[in-house]
Amino acid sequence: MAIQKIGIVGAGLMGSGIAQTAAQAGLDVWLSDAAQEFLDRGLGRIHGAWGMLQTKGRLTEEQVAQNKARLHPTLALEEYADCDIVIEVIIEQKEPKLALFRQMDGILRPDALLVSNTSSLPITEMAAVTGRRDKVAGLHFFNPVPVMKLVEIVRTVETSDATVETLRAFSATLGKTPIIAKDTAGFVVNFLLIPYLLSAIRMYEHGTATMEDIDTAMQLGTSYPMGPFTLADYVGLDTTLYAAEVIYAENPDPAYAPPALLRRMVTLGRLGRKSGQGFYDYRETK
Ligand code: 3HC
Repeated sequence: MAIQKIGIVGAGLMGSGIAQTAAQAGLDVWLSDAAQEFLDRGLGRIHGAWGMLQTKGRLTEEQVAQNKARLHPTLALEEYADCDIVIEVIIEQKEPKLALFRQMDGILRPDALLVSNTSSLPITEMAAVTGRRDKVAGLHFFNPVPVMKLVEIVRTVETSDATVETLRAFSATLGKTPIIAKDTAGFVVNFLLIPYLLSAIRMYEHGTATMEDIDTAMQLGTSYPMGPFTLADYVGLDTTLYAAEVIYAENPDPAYAPPALLRRMVTLGRLGRKSGQGFYDYRETK
């Protein structure tokens, strides 16, 4: 099946990034969120990015107008009935995701795919609440979506080969390179990335070096675009903690045990860039 009409549920950072990328790739995109203000915020982000790309000469005024025409914001999920695929990008909590999978399973055509952008929750549990288990998979994008080239296709024991092939082709349409992972906590990237971020926090807790020096070491010593503290702030400390907890629960290796400092930062609402303060302070630059 060639995917042409896509539905995205959740207009946050990831959902709006996927919507932007898909509209730029020439697809018809329906985008929704739980309330108009969240949807407006997502649309503002997308229009801002297109404005930036136009200023840089990467998109013409006409291309921006065409992209906007392909993007359909709505609060009514019934409008997704004719979508070829729906991508769930809502809050990283199990119950709301399961409820949405049940709801969308009742709205979508029987041949439509239903995928989740979750970074750590089991895809298998989402598949289990639908009547289309072979058409359910993970499709995990990376932040910032329009820039990051990878997408993880996550298959459960019941995801069909046809679904995986459709998702491969869809990823290519979006300009992404897919890799295939089994439905295990953390998939590939977070299984490797999370212990690296947690080790940096432990190093700092132990006083091995300052945060700034650990960041500089990894940036200049390994050519990573961001050091671990800058990256954790960028990903979100709540997201980092949640991913660590989920992977640790399935795989109780101390490398995945969240350090006390990370928990305390999250308790204080210091969630990284998005809250204005994480390991670093972003309030002035905001
Ligand atoms: N749409 C299109 N292009 C965009 C864009 C957008 N929304 N946002 C940025 N860009 C483009 C810019 O135009 C710029 O293009 P140019 O170089 O051709 O002019 C390019 O992206 C780089 O942007 P900037 O110049 O603003 O910034 P940097 O060069 O500092 O790069 C970065 C920023 C791409 C974020 C880089 O620092 C980076 O790659 N960091 C690491 C990010 C990372 O590792 N992400 C994965 C996190 S893990 C994850 O998401 C999984 C989750 O489950 C936890």
